Amino acid sequence: MDREMISRLSHVDHPINSPLDDESVRRLLHRTVDRGDERVLDLGCGEAAWLLRTLATHPDVTAEGVDNSAQALAKARKEAADLGVEQRLVLHHQDASEFASRQPFDAVLSVGATHAFGGLLPTLDAAHRHIVPGGRVLVGDAYWECEPTAAAREMLGEYEDLATTMDRVVAHGWTPVFGHISTRQELDDFEWCYTGSLATWALDHPEDPDSAEVLAVASTHRSQWLHSYRDSFGFVTLVLRRTSE
Ligand SMILES: C[S@@+](CC[C@H](N)C(=O)[O-])C[C@H]1O[C@@H](n2cnc3c(N)ncnc32)[C@H](O)[C@@H]1O
Repeated sequence: MDREMISRLSHVDHPINSPLDDESVRRLLHRTVDRGDERVLDLGCGEAAWLLRTLATHPDVTAEGVDNSAQALAKARKEAADLGVEQRLVLHHQDASEFASRQPFDAVLSVGATHAFGGLLPTLDAAHRHIVPGGRVLVGDAYWECEPTAAAREMLGEYEDLATTMDRVVAHGWTPVFGHISTRQELDDFEWCYTGSLATWALDHPEDPDSAEVLAVASTHRSQWLHSYRDSFGFVTLVLRRTSE
């Protein structure tokens, strides 16, 4: 089974493809899109869960999403049609770092997709290029809760502790106006949903030629999570404004 399909199967039970629950998402969006007529961009939107929630609750918001996964965007398109918001959503199938728009956006989101830009600060630089003066950026990224194992670093990449992460964001010209640190329950739920959805599909489709492989992917992932990074992995989502324009 290809990686895209595994990725899609893996979060059927967790539509936000990042470790945040529905209430956290609602609160963060409320702090990011509050006027109700904003133009919103999501870089690395996946199935556009953040944008679809925003469009569903704000009838005058318009949105654009960018992702390099055709399957995720197809799912986003279908969901948008089901919700009746497809007229207000434009989806771009391309590398988020190459996205360009003639008109700036009131809010730029990028959650769990900083690798597309080479890290958190380059993601903020990209968002800055797309926002109006006074606009808001909602960005979510990992940090180390404690010293990571070598295996965790190798698997997940290089991050800082939370305080250093914040210091760097502020030194880069941004002021946090809201934030959310994913709780242990949100982090664990995300992993249980990921491995559980894959395992459930595999057990429900024992005759499928991909069944054994999908079960093995779930098992390997669960083992890596518990042995390598559960204690050290943290996730923070920030609502930011430029400190000065
Ligand atoms: C962890 S998912 C997060 C999706 C979404 N932001 C959310 O929170 O539900 C990361 C997304 O980034 C996308 N992505 C990764 N690299 C990308 C790139 N270079 N350009 C565009 N999208 C990218 C993936 O396809 C995936 O949909």
